Amino acid sequence: MIGYLNGQYLPQENIVISPEDRGFLFADGIYEVIRSYGGKLFRAKAHFGRLSRSASALQFNHTDFSYLETVCVKLIQDNRLTQGDAVIYMQVTRGVAPRSHAFPPIETPLTVYATAKSFQSHLQESENGTRVILVPDQRWARCDIKTVGLLANTLAHQRARNSHATEGLFVRDGAVLEGTHSNVMAVFDGKVITPPRTNYMLAGITREFVLGLCGELSIPFSEAPLYESDIMNADELMIVGTTVEVTPVIAINGENIGSGMPGPITRKLQKAFQEGTA
Ligand code: PDD
Repeated sequence: MIGYLNGQYLPQENIVISPEDRGFLFADGIYEVIRSYGGKLFRAKAHFGRLSRSASALQFNHTDFSYLETVCVKLIQDNRLTQGDAVIYMQVTRGVAPRSHAFPPIETPLTVYATAKSFQSHLQESENGTRVILVPDQRWARCDIKTVGLLANTLAHQRARNSHATEGLFVRDGAVLEGTHSNVMAVFDGKVITPPRTNYMLAGITREFVLGLCGELSIPFSEAPLYESDIMNADELMIVGTTVEVTPVIAINGENIGSGMPGPITRKLQKAFQEGTA
């Protein structure tokens, strides 16, 4: 496998990152995950836009990473991923410097890393629906920045796995905000509801795309809080994201949502999403 580090394309096993990298020491880094379908990047501009906003939020010395689109395309080609599905991971950190909480000198080069791998969609969950649990949100107050500081997400996700679920939905002050690596949408009386953008959730690229599909398909939607006390009464529930695409949720904490089967609006959006990536 060929990866990219700071301007060079190298076999993955030859890629070396310093132990003094601030990504390693402080999780002082940001990332993006982009899908490619049949060699074509999905919503690349939106991902690079968000990477740039994350870099600005962390006051990095460089915030325009649009050149990485060419890098992604080359990684797809070099790794023979032009057919089928693949996933590209990109990470940028504040670079290498002796450990100190203060930022290093402004001219310190950022560390820029990217890889591309083939990706198997979770067909069974996509078809039959999946199970989630609710988890207390123990993250910081800037969940809108896509940083590599994901310990609370991994702990919550593992808790879901240990409960035979595939995703944990974060709950803060009674509001269900998003999944550990996905956004959440519910359907009540034919209307799609998804939590509004705040600093407590990531503005997902897939979320935005699916809301656009709602508009195109004349499915009413609204960005409004989803309360823990109401969510069990949803007719349908789904998680959306780069890796989960549009996945129906059939149970929360072991209790069925709606009929306990993927609902008709979820199916419509799933189909439109698949057409959008074809
Ligand atoms: N995560 N919310 C969180 C906390 C996420 O980490 C992600 C994506 C999403 C969905 O965003 P998007 O539609 O832009 O992928 C929402 C990636 C896939 C990950 O961490 O692997």
